[in-house]
Amino acid sequence: MQRIAITGATGYLASLVRLYNQDRFSFIPVSRGQVDYTHPDEVEHFFAQLNCDLVFHTAANATTAACESDPAGTDLVNRDSAIAIARACASTGKRMMFISTEQVFNGKDVPGPFGEDDEPCSVTRYGRQKAAVDAWMRDNLEDYVTIRLSWMFGLPLPRVKPSPGIVGNVLQALRTATPTHFTCNERRCMTYAQHLADEFGRICNLPSGLYHVASDNDLTTYEAARLVARRFGASEREVSQLILPDTERYADRFRDFRLDAGKARAAGLELGAFESDVERCLTDFGW
Ligand SMILES: NC(=O)c1ccc[n+]([C@@H]2O[C@H](COP(=O)([O-])OP(=O)(O)OC[C@H]3O[C@@H](n4cnc5c(N)ncnc54)[C@H](OP(=O)(O)O)[C@@H]3O)[C@@H](O)[C@H]2O)c1
Repeated sequence: MQRIAITGATGYLASLVRLYNQDRFSFIPVSRGQVDYTHPDEVEHFFAQLNCDLVFHTAANATTAACESDPAGTDLVNRDSAIAIARACASTGKRMMFISTEQVFNGKDVPGPFGEDDEPCSVTRYGRQKAAVDAWMRDNLEDYVTIRLSWMFGLPLPRVKPSPGIVGNVLQALRTATPTHFTCNERRCMTYAQHLADEFGRICNLPSGLYHVASDNDLTTYEAARLVARRFGASEREVSQLILPDTERYADRFRDFRLDAGKARAAGLELGAFESDVERCLTDFGW
């Protein structure tokens, strides 16, 4: 059985992937209690010593605001330690699998969707940290897989706690009757995270390279939130009272950082579209 070290082991995507793939792979969970991502030298040593075939590196401080307020600290965690793991993999013959993000395109002033050959342009520290790792891996590794994900969504399972996503955010607004703003000047892919768990085996065996992994979406975030609210059974009155348009955020420049997943699809990955992903997610969870 292939031995896969998985960092950020208690995080959302790592937990979900492990839950649905534990019979197919031997996972070696690695959490930050075992390795300090603010010390890249120690990180490189740790992963060089680790007995595994592949490292799936999911650990990151993915909070945009935290990356802006602590650029030096988060550079160590998100950029330098990821590169340290990649170095360790290269020197010990392991495959490196890295999760990058759509946010590498959030500075683009032309509309998406963007393909793997489009040059990243990010206005956030988080996006630039991930883009730096993507470029380092492309330039220095012979055997790697980088998956650039869109904004993912899902609902909780035992020992799987979703990070904030559109479905969870809308559910929170409806359940707590809290009027909540959703961005009008933004279009991004939003993907049911179950796709990642389902396609994980194929992803591990992709030919070396960079792949965009996302379901299609043509809606703005506000339009998407309204769609989700209606699917949850909210009345038109609840939708208009609780799902509010945020027209000010990004009024200076419409953000379209959608990913074109054509390469991943051509390689055999099954991905969806936003509306069918929402339908599947809510059906899976009994709505
Ligand atoms: N969720 C999305 O929509 C999305 C979209 C695109 C890309 N991504 C990327 O996918 C990966 C996983 O995302 P996720 O949603 O599963 O995030 P998550 O639930 O926040 O999990 C990330 C894990 O990384 C570790 N971690 C967090 N902060 C850290 C810090 N300051 N120093 C060291 N380790 C830290 C923690 O794991 P331990 O405590 O177990 O070490 C945490 O559980 C990240 O690299 C993220 O950038 C996510």
